[in-house]
Amino acid sequence: MKIIHTKEGIQQAVFKHRCLNETIGLVPTMGALHKGHFSLVEKSKYNSAITVVSIFVNPIQFNNKSDLERYPRTLEKDLALLGKLKVDYVFIPEEKEIYPEKTLLKFDFSGLETTLEGAFRPGHFNGVGIIVSKLLHIIHPSHVYFGQKDLQQVAIINRLIKDLSFNIEVIVVPTAREDDGLAMSSRNIFLNQEERMAANILYKNLSFAKDELLNGVNWFEVKDKINEKFLEETLIRLEYFELVKSDSMEKVSTIDQNSPCSICTAAYVGNVRLIDNMTIYI
Ligand code: PAF
Repeated sequence: MKIIHTKEGIQQAVFKHRCLNETIGLVPTMGALHKGHFSLVEKSKYNSAITVVSIFVNPIQFNNKSDLERYPRTLEKDLALLGKLKVDYVFIPEEKEIYPEKTLLKFDFSGLETTLEGAFRPGHFNGVGIIVSKLLHIIHPSHVYFGQKDLQQVAIINRLIKDLSFNIEVIVVPTAREDDGLAMSSRNIFLNQEERMAANILYKNLSFAKDELLNGVNWFEVKDKINEKFLEETLIRLEYFELVKSDSMEKVSTIDQNSPCSICTAAYVGNVRLIDNMTIYI
């Protein structure tokens, strides 16, 4: 496994493989790796000849300075784990390498970036769009891997790739979950014991709502029941719980067999903000 810190270094390394017509998988991460990331790496290793993992805590996707400062950084542990998984390259740029100057470009995805997560984290998806575009330009992968847990991020990246004609296949890997259903996340390490026990309410409520919808219950009735369930949880503060079209994130109130829908949610468990979603297949 080679660790590379510069754009030129990773470009040269990957170029050799591209000349040999080898497929190149990129797994973009912000570090603090967990089993969810490992499933992305494993998928890439299975699919692509070469796997590159990037580790970069992207400052411009944080709308809140304290969230950026608090974001877990566990580089030594991450590298040991990636070594075990036998990835080919780890790209760990410094901030100056990626942002030698302030980026002026702003993405406008016609509302896709301002709904759900975007409404609570203004500027977040612009930051994601910028860093992912930069990584794709620097590394030129043939495949890029994202987790289904960040469904809106996947929708944004799919639009970016289509609208800017990147010749790259996006592979979405199912959400890795703890035994009680809690979606794996780098932020889970901040949950204390009591919060950790309460945190699987997101998964429980998503599963409940999905079953209700499949049993024909009206979405607004489902939402009322869900709001009551969240209100009973003293440690939890719900931000949103919405039924949307899985690709456009447009809010809907019925499920449709011709257009996959997902239920998306975000909530604070204590001071820790968690997101999750569940797709409904009819
Ligand atoms: O999903 C993440 O960890 C980040 O949003 C990503 C895609 C690595 C961009 O910084």
